[in-house]
Amino acid sequence: MKTSVAIIGGGPAGLLLSEMLHRQGVDSVVLEARSRDYVLARIRAGVLEQTTVDVLRENGLGERMDAQGHPHDGMRIVWAGRSSYFINCYEHLGKRFMAYGQTQIQEDLFAAADRRQARVLTEATDVRPMDVASDKPYVLFRHNGVDERLDCDYIAGCDGFHGVSRKTIPPTHLQEFEKAYPFGWLGILSRTAPLPDVTYANHPRGFALASMRSSNLSRYYVQVPLDDKIEDWSDDRFWSELTARFPPKMAARIQTGPSIEKSIAPLRSFVAEPMRHGRLFLCGDAAHIVPPTGAKGLNLAVSDVFYLSRALAAVYRDGSERLIDSYSAMALRRVWSSVRTSWYLTNLLHRFPTATEFDQRAQEAELDYLNGSAHAQASLAEQYAGMPFEPA
Ligand code: APR
Ligand code: PHB
Repeated sequence: MKTSVAIIGGGPAGLLLSEMLHRQGVDSVVLEARSRDYVLARIRAGVLEQTTVDVLRENGLGERMDAQGHPHDGMRIVWAGRSSYFINCYEHLGKRFMAYGQTQIQEDLFAAADRRQARVLTEATDVRPMDVASDKPYVLFRHNGVDERLDCDYIAGCDGFHGVSRKTIPPTHLQEFEKAYPFGWLGILSRTAPLPDVTYANHPRGFALASMRSSNLSRYYVQVPLDDKIEDWSDDRFWSELTARFPPKMAARIQTGPSIEKSIAPLRSFVAEPMRHGRLFLCGDAAHIVPPTGAKGLNLAVSDVFYLSRALAAVYRDGSERLIDSYSAMALRRVWSSVRTSWYLTNLLHRFPTATEFDQRAQEAELDYLNGSAHAQASLAEQYAGMPFEPA
């Protein structure tokens, strides 16, 4: 088999890259380890920054998002015993958000790939990027019981945090930065009407978040100890813990119902630099992980894909390697900006088991400052909304 760009991983990063390359006349093959059903069953993030919404619309992926998604203007913050405040990104920056599930984006991406009869090989196992530092890289894999070889010009590693791509880069050429947080998020999805705003709560019992996917689909989270098990959390226990963490008036407006998904995820920040080794380029979770606070993960995957598709298209269009040479540095500037924002929001909003009274007072002072200062709100609005893409 032969193609221009071999894409490892068919998550949102891999499928979007394939779509955007196709629209710029560049051929690709996607190799995904799992089945399509498995990939489509994953429940993940769901708040899209304006830049992400624009990219999806510009690439023919906006129709269902615009019909079913929930547009909103910012985030609400509440904390124990105080009034809440709204960080209005539309007012400060003219930027909006869309609540629309990654699961739905993944469906839209598969549908678009089917329409153009894209080569997306699912259940491709033993995927191995080879000779990535040479100018003739290739990928070995197994598909339908047959050993295959895919020759290509470039390889895009879009295979998530546990993928094979990053691991093929020699440790001497890769620097990793990591921070683990001492808690996880227990999340549920329920067919109930959401609160009107995406609302982050800092409470003595721990952090809680009210979010949404559509007008009748809610997503809620509570901070839990890392060793908590999903079996310990009945729906009843979840709802009573969630509502205990919101002010009574807000809690009274939370509609409860059976969970249709329930999972616990640990929180961590991770960045690998550079995002390129020879002809291998990393995109999305393969290169970086953020804690979910601030909903940056999927948006970063989209910005990596935006930069990489633009850079690869320039190579095939006019032979210019300028943008692929600056891909890693450009992508990492936006990555670190979002890594910092999600770390800041994680620190601001969670109860750390090791926090001293001093830490607690400092956190409350920060929340008070945000409440009272238009400058602080404008700064947070800018970070929450996400930085604009850099020009080519
Ligand atoms: N070979 C082929 N495919 C692989 C391999 C491998 N060795 N390892 C992993 N994969 C596949 C996974 O099955 C998955 O479908 O790569 C895909 C990676 O997808 P994601 O983990 O979703 O990562 P990404 O596409 O970068 O999406 C960005 O945003 O909301 C966040 O973390 C969330 O998944 C989300 C991410
Ligand atoms: C979500 O809706 O899943 C969500 C929203 C906001 C976040 C994180 C996750 O900060």
